[in-house]
Amino acid sequence: MTADFPKVELHLHLEGAAPPAFVRGLAKQKSIDISGIFDARGTYSYNDFWHFLKVYEAATSVLTSPEDYARLTRAVLEESAASGVVYCESFLSPDFCGGRDVAAWRDYLAAIREAADEAERAHGIVLRGIVTAIRHFGPEKARETALCAAETAGDWIVGFGIAGDEKAGKPADFAWSFDCAREAGLRLTAHAGEWGGPESVRDALDAFRPARIGHGVRAIEDPRLVERLAEDGIVLEVCPGSNVALGLYKDWRAHPIERLRAGGVKVTVSTDDPPFFHTTMAREFDRLAEDLGWDADDFAELNRNAAEAAFCDEATRAELIKKLEAA
Ligand code: ADE
Ligand code: ZN
Repeated sequence: MTADFPKVELHLHLEGAAPPAFVRGLAKQKSIDISGIFDARGTYSYNDFWHFLKVYEAATSVLTSPEDYARLTRAVLEESAASGVVYCESFLSPDFCGGRDVAAWRDYLAAIREAADEAERAHGIVLRGIVTAIRHFGPEKARETALCAAETAGDWIVGFGIAGDEKAGKPADFAWSFDCAREAGLRLTAHAGEWGGPESVRDALDAFRPARIGHGVRAIEDPRLVERLAEDGIVLEVCPGSNVALGLYKDWRAHPIERLRAGGVKVTVSTDDPPFFHTTMAREFDRLAEDLGWDADDFAELNRNAAEAAFCDEATRAELIKKLEAA
């Protein structure tokens, strides 16, 4: 059991971490009918990635106020802390938090931060936010999202990224948003190489110049791209449980994380949307140990990669490294 081992998670969608019972509770309270997104056992139900995105958005539709996000943040961080997570970066979308209106986004962000501060006091877990555009919502909405990000960039909103349907549009369509975020001092990450192949990763690298790639696992299909990632020190936010649950790989043994690492790529491990994929950070580490034979040294390497690639300020990073080394 690896629950006690300290962990750093860099790739977590806040809405995607909402427990089904939490979402059902809010739906009932607000008389929103989302019964179709659950199976008979009450867990999220979807057929493939694109259906998953629809179910995700339906679940998110019950989160309609800053207070809902504060409650969600408290619930998610309590669960993460129980899994041993000591530092977490979460994707936050102004699309869902106030419809990309800057003033409304500030209200949502204030509520999330207050809940995160509370969780830090209660459980010692540190949260930072990455503002995230949704690719299939299109470039115009991504620009508005980047403006929300730029307005709130600082010691807590530390990054900008893009998630959603990797097949929608081209990275170049979103370059303005990434340039805007970069100019505001934000660090950059982009989902790529999950449902798109190596060319999708290459296009994202060229258009966005990100420090990290979300997933990026399909880079394994092109040895020259693996070399480029290794040489340029691009860190992958790998989410093996998510990839297996969504059917990208048939099981953990077929997952390329070990081969990417052997190719010199800096990998980290995260859960993506834990209840959707029946996972937690402790379960991800358990599978790494049981299916891939990873041990405490391998986990320490994961943590080192993640701490070095975290988008937080240097004082926060130093504190995190101290905590990891003490353990
Ligand atoms: N949004 C939430 N989870 C995602 C994933 N795995 N890929 C792309 N967008 C997402
Ligand atoms: Zn993701």
